[in-house]
Amino acid sequence: MKHKIVITAQGHKGTLETLLREFDCGKLWEAADRGAFLKERAPRVRAIAHFGHSKVDGPLMDALPKLEIVANFGVGVDQIDLEAAKKRKIIVTNTPDVLNDCVADCAMALVLNALRKLPQSEAYLRSGYWPTRGPYPLCTSLGGKTMGVLGLGRIGEAIARRAQTFGMKIRYHNRSKKDVAYPYDKDAVELARNSDVLMVVIPGGAQSSKLVNAKVLDALGPEGYLVNIARGSVVDEPALLKYLQEKKIAGAGLDVFADEPRVPAEFFALDNAVLFPHVASATVETRKAMGDLQIENLRRHLAGKPVLTRVA
Ligand code: 8YV
Repeated sequence: MKHKIVITAQGHKGTLETLLREFDCGKLWEAADRGAFLKERAPRVRAIAHFGHSKVDGPLMDALPKLEIVANFGVGVDQIDLEAAKKRKIIVTNTPDVLNDCVADCAMALVLNALRKLPQSEAYLRSGYWPTRGPYPLCTSLGGKTMGVLGLGRIGEAIARRAQTFGMKIRYHNRSKKDVAYPYDKDAVELARNSDVLMVVIPGGAQSSKLVNAKVLDALGPEGYLVNIARGSVVDEPALLKYLQEKKIAGAGLDVFADEPRVPAEFFALDNAVLFPHVASATVETRKAMGDLQIENLRRHLAGKPVLTRVA
């Protein structure tokens, strides 16, 4: 008999196909009555396969008394109530490492696009302005600039390595100092003050909520750029909008927003912001690797084996 699982949202196509083939899947996002849906499946569901950024909270876990594992598609688990999971000894897994390179590539694309204004200059050409208005205005170079990495984990290190090959200097802030050659700053304000580009890579969640606030943006200053590939929740978004509108920082490159997929329309009018729709890990190869890891964690747990990537 196939193991009964619940899938929370319409996720990555190939991963979904494998899940549907291997397990007896209930599609939570299609349920007209969530309560009735969960009640009907509750006696046999030991696993949730989670996609996207909706909440896996205490009440959802409690509706499934036999639940043993929540396998997340993605490295960030800020949408999962880890405390509630811990209380019930529910295992939470994520998909670390397999996305480091793609996320770091995208982070550098945001740096390049924010400083070099490449999307804006392309729009200028497409609008037919080049022959009539002349060359696109000069922008800012990367070489010799300092990138401050807020959250030097595995993705942060992959970004730092890339930034160095562009001639950038690296500094960082983490909750605790790491055994690395990069200079350490004691908090986000000091890091922003010492950086030309503040690269936000720390996990989302209550601990980091609005950590990048007006104080940090003041420290970054009118020549500074903010790049965020972590979570929108880490940044005070209304403050960021104001600082961009008033040119109190030079620019921003953003892959993540506070209330995705809704992005405040005021951002669209800014010529000093480059905006991506949360695509840092969105390549065919990486999304497949993320799905493979998510499924392998499920398979292993349901077969009585230890999972590969348990969230601490
Ligand atoms: C994905 C992410 O967009 O891994 C993460 O934490 O934010 C991204 O890789 C997301 O998980 C897909 O839903």
